[in-house]
Amino acid sequence: MAQAAPAIADTLPVVAIRDLHKSFGALDVLKGISFSAREGEVVSLIGSSGSGKSTLLRCINMLEVPDSGVVAIDGEEIKLRGTAPHRQIADENQIRRIRSELGMVFQSFNLWAHMTILENVMEAPLVVQRRARDEVEEEALAMLAKVGIREKADSYPAQLSGGQQQRAAIARALCINPRVMLFDEPTSALDPELEVEVLRVIKVLADEGRTMVLVTHDMEFARSVSDRVIFLHQGLIEEEGPPEQVFGATRSARLKQFLNAASHT
Ligand SMILES: Nc1ncnc2c1ncn2[C@@H]1O[C@H](COP(=O)(O)OP(=O)(O)OP(=O)(O)O)[C@@H](O)[C@H]1O
Ligand SMILES: [Mg+2]
Repeated sequence: MAQAAPAIADTLPVVAIRDLHKSFGALDVLKGISFSAREGEVVSLIGSSGSGKSTLLRCINMLEVPDSGVVAIDGEEIKLRGTAPHRQIADENQIRRIRSELGMVFQSFNLWAHMTILENVMEAPLVVQRRARDEVEEEALAMLAKVGIREKADSYPAQLSGGQQQRAAIARALCINPRVMLFDEPTSALDPELEVEVLRVIKVLADEGRTMVLVTHDMEFARSVSDRVIFLHQGLIEEEGPPEQVFGATRSARLKQFLNAASHT
């Protein structure tokens, strides 16, 4: 008899964040944030501009080093040393290994302009993971097919639409077979009609059970894709819960206000 997949609540967190603090000079951006994303869970971060969503996401892969607090991936704590503002990564080998488990997709696509789409997707598996070219190429082409741009494999980024470039960036992040995908407003640079195709790809990944932490300004999308929604306000988690609750039975007055404003833009 086939075993049922474990319920999300029974699994270990893939991403665990405890009491994260981050300031830029006198500006306290994160004032003690804790949350986790379990295997297969999709967590969306929402909040007004400047509330620290990108900073929080960037702390997960240490593109920003937090002033204090813990980030653990699959139960392994990322080692930091020193105190803020000089706190830094303590173990370069560890962070390199952990980063290779994290697929990050930004608002701007960050594709290499001088490489074809296929070369872009193959870069990390070949250079970082040192895998065999034949195998990587087959997988890269399959990833491009999955995001619907297989026919663009030999094109250069400038020859693609914004939506196609973003889907190439997603294929590239997927090709390292990450434990978790981190998305920072992946559609905010796109026209609405291009946005739809990128959101569709992310929804497919969510439905496949990929663990994801997603920053989005699209409340409709957050509602449809998330297992849990976190509302950041002034450096703290103001409200969190399943989308039905956060959007359907909002408790915080600030979140109500935010959602009200979001629905009018
Ligand atoms: N490297 C930095 N140096 C100084 N200040 C920074 C830096 N990065 C972010 N900030 C400041 O920290 C605050 C939070 O920025 P962050 O980019 O995390 O917000 P956000 O919630 O992602 O906003 P948006 O929705 O506009 O993307 C902002 O006031 C921003 O100006
Ligand atoms: Mg941001």
